[in-house]
Amino acid sequence: MDNHKTIAFIGAGNMAGAIIAGLLQNGFSNDHIIACSPNIQQREHFKNLAIRITSDNREAATQADVIVFGVKPFMLKNVCDELKTIIHQKKQLLISIVAGIKTSTITKWIHHEYGPIVRTMPNIASAVGAGVTGLFANAHVDEHQKILAESLFRSVGTTLWMHDENQLDIITAISGSGPAYLFYIFEAMQKAAINLGIDADQAKLLVAQTATGAAKLAMETGESFEQLRHFVTSEKGTTAAAIDIFNAHHTQDIVKDAIHAALKRAKELSQ
Ligand SMILES: NC(=O)c1ccc[n+]([C@@H]2O[C@H](COP(=O)([O-])OP(=O)(O)OC[C@H]3O[C@@H](n4cnc5c(N)ncnc54)[C@H](OP(=O)(O)O)[C@@H]3O)[C@@H](O)[C@H]2O)c1
Repeated sequence: MDNHKTIAFIGAGNMAGAIIAGLLQNGFSNDHIIACSPNIQQREHFKNLAIRITSDNREAATQADVIVFGVKPFMLKNVCDELKTIIHQKKQLLISIVAGIKTSTITKWIHHEYGPIVRTMPNIASAVGAGVTGLFANAHVDEHQKILAESLFRSVGTTLWMHDENQLDIITAISGSGPAYLFYIFEAMQKAAINLGIDADQAKLLVAQTATGAAKLAMETGESFEQLRHFVTSEKGTTAAAIDIFNAHHTQDIVKDAIHAALKRAKELSQ
């Protein structure tokens, strides 16, 4: 990661905060990170991390080599409006983590015909260095800028480049929102354990460690998820009894429908 570039996060909420935490854990210089938020509590939080903070987007953008847009989708047009003059002058690399807003829309909002923009879809696990981020670069991003953008997100997890911007909507529906789907399942498993008499903290540990171990097995063995499932499912055994219930409720179809609903929403947001 290029530790000499100053990165301004315009909209430093949950997701930007997760990336900032990951960057700091990876030794990125505090001095080169600016968190810009109107939210006084968030600014207090970032003050404790000893990074630069401000509530003034223009001040942050003026000092930055790279601008990361971390606001909610409906706020981005106003932010672009506010910063377009500075961006025209400084010609920074723009990186967006905003779900559903296309690079062409950002270009239109800043009237910056030649502007290099990298649109990304990270996820919340970036906060612990275990995120996964899909990236798309518009035609104005050069190789050096691509390396810079990639290294920023690689310091908080795994990255993958998309050649078709539309695929970022799919990434949004799979890995952007994905942690919440898994937390939903974890929640259900924890509730079932508690209901059966296990202490809440122990139930949380059992579920979280089971998930970590399962993910580690999938990553390290290279076996398919289906194959790994078969390894733990002996005929007429306990796991088979549970899987029979999942199948009876068409759980894989439910998951597919849920992901399609997320994708539909991501596309609606991109309009
Ligand atoms: N959360 C995720 O898992 C996730 C994953 C991938 C992508 N994303 C994307 O990341 C973006 C941020 O999501 P989030 O969950 O981090 O939301 P968030 O926590 O609400 O963060 C947005 C931040 O922007 C601040 N803000 C509001 N108006 C602003 C303005 N005019 N200028 C500068 N900052 C302003 C908000 O302050 P206030 O609190 O005072 O309003 C808040 O701190 C979204 O576009 C989302 O699509 C999120």
